[in-house]
Amino acid sequence: MCGIVGYKGKKDACGILIEALKRLEYRGYDSAGIAVWHEGKVEVARKKGKVDELRKVIADGSFTGKMGLAHTRWATHGTPSEHNAHPHKAGDVVVVHNGIIENYIELKERLRKEGHKFLSDTDTEVIPHLIASYLKKGMDFVDAVRSALKELKGSYALGIIRETDKMLIAARKESPLIIGVGAGEYFIASDAPAIINRTKRFIFLEDDDIAIFADGTVRLIDLEGKTVKREIHQVQWSDAMAEKGGFKHFMLKEIFEQPRAISDTLIGRVKEERGEVAFEELKLPDLAKVKKIWMVACGTSYHACMIGKYLFESVLHIPVETDIASEFRYREPILKKDDMLVLVSQSGETADTIAAMKEGKKRGVYTLSICNVLGSTLARDADGVIFTHAGPEIGVASTKAFTTQISVLFLLMLHIGERLGKLNKQDISRYINEIKQIPHKVQSILDMSGQIEEMARRYMVHRDFLYLGRGINYPAVLEGALKLKEISYIHAEAYAAGEMKHGPIALIDENMPVVFVSPHDHTYKKTCSNVEEVISRRGRVLIFTDDPLHEMADRVETFFVLPQTIYALQPILSVVPLQLLAYYIANFLGTDVDQPRNLAKSVTVE
Ligand code: AGP
Repeated sequence: MCGIVGYKGKKDACGILIEALKRLEYRGYDSAGIAVWHEGKVEVARKKGKVDELRKVIADGSFTGKMGLAHTRWATHGTPSEHNAHPHKAGDVVVVHNGIIENYIELKERLRKEGHKFLSDTDTEVIPHLIASYLKKGMDFVDAVRSALKELKGSYALGIIRETDKMLIAARKESPLIIGVGAGEYFIASDAPAIINRTKRFIFLEDDDIAIFADGTVRLIDLEGKTVKREIHQVQWSDAMAEKGGFKHFMLKEIFEQPRAISDTLIGRVKEERGEVAFEELKLPDLAKVKKIWMVACGTSYHACMIGKYLFESVLHIPVETDIASEFRYREPILKKDDMLVLVSQSGETADTIAAMKEGKKRGVYTLSICNVLGSTLARDADGVIFTHAGPEIGVASTKAFTTQISVLFLLMLHIGERLGKLNKQDISRYINEIKQIPHKVQSILDMSGQIEEMARRYMVHRDFLYLGRGINYPAVLEGALKLKEISYIHAEAYAAGEMKHGPIALIDENMPVVFVSPHDHTYKKTCSNVEEVISRRGRVLIFTDDPLHEMADRVETFFVLPQTIYALQPILSVVPLQLLAYYIANFLGTDVDQPRNLAKSVTVE
């Protein structure tokens, strides 16, 4: 995710802003930029690459001034490059932005007709142009910003200045932004670590808040211009705590970021009223000719592929073959010219997945990557790419990347279904309506994290776990078991519940916790029988279900109720408590959760 910082006070803004950007470097970014106001002029510099590169550009000392903005960009729209880096300027308005503007294409077209010229490929650039167009109509700065914000769909955290004004304006909607209150000075930041060394007094902006910094004070208003009041909080965070947003580990922070990550992944792609899913600039092959789709990846991303198979086969009846990337090219897969090869990867740099893409290309099939990192090898080199908008994932154990990968596969299934005439507009609207509710449902599970923590306390003493699920939840239990073994070093195995009788049942005794995902779908009765079989062997059963009246509820040790959703979306909900269970167990055991032994975030060797 991008980072925003801003300063207005009595000191040299440039040094403060560069230092603040450096403090955000741990989050990952691909370009950086700065704007400093001085006596009616704003100097802007942008650079692809590291903050140190930007620092070289401004080393001549020309960036003096006591007010300014700076930004590190993690590309979502447009490649990582200087012209796409922030700040963006239109007329005399300068803007830095985090988030995604959903309706930027419509706004851009309208503004172009008014004579505005765009210099970047970003969604952000429409914001300064929109503000400039209101200023041209005679509005003052604050009203122009308010009017522009009212037109934006999507999410934003913004820092805005203009040459002919001494004011700094900040605003937020669904993207974090805080104000740091110093002695006669103010800071803005998307993340506390940027400024925690400068102040520990923060105002946490809420959605639709606008902060106006002028004449040595800050005034908060809403989109209608009415004054709003927010408290100043004194925090006691250390640097390390601030980096993690107050969470103990990045993994926990990332688990809790999932509602927003999923929303961001949907933004701009789902058009519920039109019954459409659109992917910007994605050119798929002639889908009528595609007889088989291959989905290939490693680890967690492979589990997402398995879910993709259930989705495409159960809804569209298109055959999907999944493969672990390290196996794919060594087993002579029978790829046909018109097949489609989907590569799923958080990092976009996993060596085996890249090798699978190369194999596909060599065999002349269309390759489509689903990646989280813009500019990564898989994103660059595949024939098509769809990005998950999870933001940087720092914890080695993948969490928000997984749920956003499933979200993308679901959207891709709808998109292909529509193009092939297998789903009509009403079907798609119905599915879109379901996925749009998922972020709230994930949030409601996160709100019950205390229950999972208690569960973890009870089960952390065990050295072996079994995870069982059926249908589309089979990959979800594979993922739950992977999470537990990765970060707690506890042995965990997952099986399709029907396989239990074919071997794993021999392991069950009173020392074996058995985690079931058992929703009330067409697999319900069969899974109830499996639960029965475990109970009769004195296994310790935990059930995660969407059915509060589950018939085994009173017979098992631990029972957790999930929100209901359609079959196709169940794994997004069922995996969240499994991520939390793994996390809390590992945390109690005191392992290095974010950097577990022997593991790397990106596996760049085959
Ligand atoms: C999952 O928690 C692991 N970090 C690992 O299995 C990971 O999913 C795998 O290495 C693939 O990485 P990628 O998504 O970046 O390609």
